[in-house]
Amino acid sequence: MESHAESIVENLTTAVVVADAALRVRAVNPAGEILFELSAKQMVGQPLERLWPQTAPLAGLFADILQSAHSFTRRGLPLPLPGREVLVDVTATAILPSSESGLQEAALLFELNQVDRLRRLAHEEELVDRHLAQRAVVRGLAHEIKNPLGGLRGAAQLLERKLSESEREYTRIIIREADRLQGLVDRLAGPTRPYLPVQVNIHQVLEHVRSLILAEVGEGYVLRRDYDPSIPEFAGDPDQLVQAVLNLARNAVQAPSHLIILRSRIERQFTIGQRRHKLVLRAEVEDDGPGVPQALRDTLFYPMVTGHAAGTGLGLSIAQDIARRHGGLIEYTSRPARTVFTLFLPLRQEYDPTG
Ligand SMILES: Nc1ncnc2c1ncn2[C@@H]1O[C@H](COP(=O)(O)OP(=O)(O)OP(=O)(O)O)[C@@H](O)[C@H]1O
Ligand SMILES: [Mg+2]
Repeated sequence: MESHAESIVENLTTAVVVADAALRVRAVNPAGEILFELSAKQMVGQPLERLWPQTAPLAGLFADILQSAHSFTRRGLPLPLPGREVLVDVTATAILPSSESGLQEAALLFELNQVDRLRRLAHEEELVDRHLAQRAVVRGLAHEIKNPLGGLRGAAQLLERKLSESEREYTRIIIREADRLQGLVDRLAGPTRPYLPVQVNIHQVLEHVRSLILAEVGEGYVLRRDYDPSIPEFAGDPDQLVQAVLNLARNAVQAPSHLIILRSRIERQFTIGQRRHKLVLRAEVEDDGPGVPQALRDTLFYPMVTGHAAGTGLGLSIAQDIARRHGGLIEYTSRPARTVFTLFLPLRQEYDPTG
């Protein structure tokens, strides 16, 4: 029973810290270690106040809670971390000594939820939902256009045979434009061939994109690498991942910018959409361009949304689709001189098409 309860606490995404009546940390779950950026070993035995000075003024309140066995919640309490500060919602509850709790003396249980992270998750879910709905519409539309287009092209070809050389110019225009539309519709529909998941090394993907971009942009452009070489291989489709990252990198070049940084990092216990993963890969494309135009920010991943006269507005939609097929997600942050598109991918060993 106890080990069952323990394993539940171990797997919570809520950070849990238990302190004794003297407000010393007695236990912390893995989500707590991640939040405080300290190991349980470093935390246990420490006065809570040392880890989290902002709780010092609340010491009296904690004593009351221990007495009265009430709980209290405080929203948006700052938690300082090395180099930054995050906001957390905190609920403190007294656990009283009893044979059931197995405690000799009363303890305080703190549940901490990082607020900005919750906001990010809600936003992410919305993003995934919206994306799925759009894909369904666009796929249907692409399919509807494709069939008559084939007929149109075929009819133009037949007609061409009956026409004189000078008149054929017209049927050629029909055929050429039908082919152009066909290409557009194919891109709209997104990748159609089935996945052939193999072991993928993300750095091979990034290096492939790097060499393609270098071949396209020529001299005077800086393409920097910032890789974490310890990232393990994972199951995925390398061609499609190259396509996704290439779309991000091309956008960075067209931003326009002078510098691109390709970055890889690893995240532990990270949530994508509604699923928490033990290990998540972060592949980033950063550029020093002017940033995403304000007017496009809310609809950026929609198909046909573009800020360029010659753009089709499909690059990001396709990249997001590929990310999703891998169980992942693309997000971005953007301000002048620093725009970062991040591809989050769960690092799982087995390929799971329901992702
Ligand atoms: N790194 C970036 N910096 C600034 N704006 C960006 C960046 N990436 C994307 N954008 C904006 O988002 C728009 C949509 O990008 P998306 O790749 O979907 O389409 P596109 O580049 O316009 O056309 P396509 O990729 O189909 O050729 C771009 O037109 C651009 O305005
Ligand atoms: Mg693009």
